[in-house]
Amino acid sequence: MTAQQPALNVPRKIYQMSVDERLRYLVDQGSLSKESADAYRASIVDDAAARMSENVIGELVSPLAVVTDLLVNGEHCLVPMTTEEPSVVAAANHGARMATGGFAAASHRDGIYGQILLDSNDRFDWRRLTAHVPELIRLVARQFASLSMRGGGLTNIDMHEDGLTCELLVKVGTAEAMGANIVNSILECMVHDIESVFPQLNAVMAIVSNYPSQLVDVETRVPFAQLGKDREGNALIAHNIARMADFAERSPYRAVTNNKGIMNGVDAVVAACGNDTRAVEAACHQLAALSGRYMPLSHWSVDDDAQHLVGTMRLALPIGAVGGAIASRSAIMRNMELMGSPNVKRLGEIIAATGLANNLAALHALAGEGIQHGHMRLQAAQTAIAVGATADETPQLVSRMVAASEYSQSWAAEQLADMRDGR
Ligand code: MEV
Repeated sequence: MTAQQPALNVPRKIYQMSVDERLRYLVDQGSLSKESADAYRASIVDDAAARMSENVIGELVSPLAVVTDLLVNGEHCLVPMTTEEPSVVAAANHGARMATGGFAAASHRDGIYGQILLDSNDRFDWRRLTAHVPELIRLVARQFASLSMRGGGLTNIDMHEDGLTCELLVKVGTAEAMGANIVNSILECMVHDIESVFPQLNAVMAIVSNYPSQLVDVETRVPFAQLGKDREGNALIAHNIARMADFAERSPYRAVTNNKGIMNGVDAVVAACGNDTRAVEAACHQLAALSGRYMPLSHWSVDDDAQHLVGTMRLALPIGAVGGAIASRSAIMRNMELMGSPNVKRLGEIIAATGLANNLAALHALAGEGIQHGHMRLQAAQTAIAVGATADETPQLVSRMVAASEYSQSWAAEQLADMRDGR
């Protein structure tokens, strides 16, 4: 007998439907017009998208841009960035151009953490579990032999017991992958073994930790001459950037905005290379608060030679250069190719350098002409598109907006109408 089919008059669950069925269902129940449903359907250019998430109804397109002037550890690289914020790519390019000596970066990847939380009955002696740890390590090495062959594997288990509960904090080398899935599989394998050897124990939870552990340090030395047009002005910009960096260390209001400017660049590259922006954000938040106070991730100072502005930064980058979300998307594979197919260490170094370049450009703008000058021209292009300007009309409409310092959508719409009437 074949598997039972759902009765015809009982709608299937929306996640069980094909994209077409789902869109038809939304139209039939009045949630979506036929035109919008057609537009959603047409937005799917890669059919794999329909299999990559639950309840897919379309694809959302973001611009993909390239940074061309980034020099990382002496090698030029092309950096793909995807973001909806108009000024982010311009800032990364500007920062990369000012840093003529490039960025020196070093990845330190010694694994990611995972946690198991165990409950016991009142007579359990945790020393029995301690004695079992070597067996757990052997078990994982056997079960996940292919990870060891790629240079990864379980490297450490710490036990923190607290009465009736105990945390196992494990560290797993993930080789070229980001590794959250493999860590979760390893933890579940360990739980299975622990619960079968010690029936008095049961696991409350087993999950990867996003605590910062895959770190990248990056530094740049920017010659004063790159900061502007005249010697005195350049020195003033450099000193003001250093002052803003000091201020960020005292003001969490400023620190969080400084870090937002860094993450503008970081997230855009992380997304373009198919990695998990939320894991990176979460780990960087924790890193920023590591001292117990929220701090800027970057630091800027004027070098003793009074000729260079020096920027340093440590980022947490739990990323991979291989893995399902990368290999399953041809657009991501193209972006990796554009970057020169970096290994995961190099990828982290490129991402960190881009973040510092974005930070430099933001601070440079704040120390000089202010942020709105460059921002608003780019913002105006977005407004022009929003009011329906064609590619040919956009430059003229943007010029009108910038000249009049008028950036509202209503004003842009009036100007567009005027332009079309020949005024
Ligand atoms: C805007 O997206 C980011 C900035 O606010 C960053 C900063 O202030 O450093 C410009």
